Amino acid sequence: FEEDPPHRPLFGKHVLITAGPTHEPIDPVRYIANRSSGKQGFAIAAAAAQLGARVTLVSGPVTLPTPVGVDRVDVETARDMAEAVKRTLPVDVAIMVAAVADWRTQDVAAEKMKKRGSAPPALRLTENPDILAMVSVSDKRPKLVVGFAAETEKVIQHATEKRQRKGADWIVANDVSGDVMGGNINAVHIVTAQGVESLPEMPKDDVARALVERIADALVPPAS
Ligand code: CTP
Ligand code: CA
Repeated sequence: FEEDPPHRPLFGKHVLITAGPTHEPIDPVRYIANRSSGKQGFAIAAAAAQLGARVTLVSGPVTLPTPVGVDRVDVETARDMAEAVKRTLPVDVAIMVAAVADWRTQDVAAEKMKKRGSAPPALRLTENPDILAMVSVSDKRPKLVVGFAAETEKVIQHATEKRQRKGADWIVANDVSGDVMGGNINAVHIVTAQGVESLPEMPKDDVARALVERIADALVPPAS
């Protein structure tokens, strides 16, 4: 039925998705990372392509196959991801699912750091660009900007504040206090200007489908 126009409500729309972690180098063999697997972002990319969208997936280092019909751009660091996102604009919808490293090391050692019996080195960190906030204020701002919020406590409160602070239209909040990161199940709350819709716990593929259907409805309200 994917050929059937009513089931391809995102046909003609360009959707940009970020996914996965970023890696921030310390020296040539070490980096700072996080537990993001990329599964939720890749599932959203697949679901958007199934609904007919042209999809650009900007992915940090993950071990997942590229979904059918998706253009993938691989990046390593937050700054690489920000550049790839900028190059992809303008788009109709941006969905920022990536777990972007908040900090990177201020200086990357040119050679592998050695113990040599001395005191452990201190990492000096500096803040990375906020890609979601950048897209939200861009002069090429997409019609719909969707962010994610990985929280371990006060999930809806933090997500609501994040929506305001980052200028996103929607924030999809997930509680990552359990084993969501890396797992196949997710329970999310979609926070919009209209309020909060909480979806029951379900496989990440189903979360993706539910989210992308809501995005299609928001872009093209169904004829009444
Ligand atoms: N995000 C981003 N660029 C960053 C940090 C976050 O684009 N440098 C995006 C994420 O992809 C996600 C949203 O912002 O869509 C929220 O990420 P999150 O880490 O929850 O928010 P932060 O603003 O970084 O706040 P904190 O980690 O302190 O909770
Ligand atoms: Ca963060």
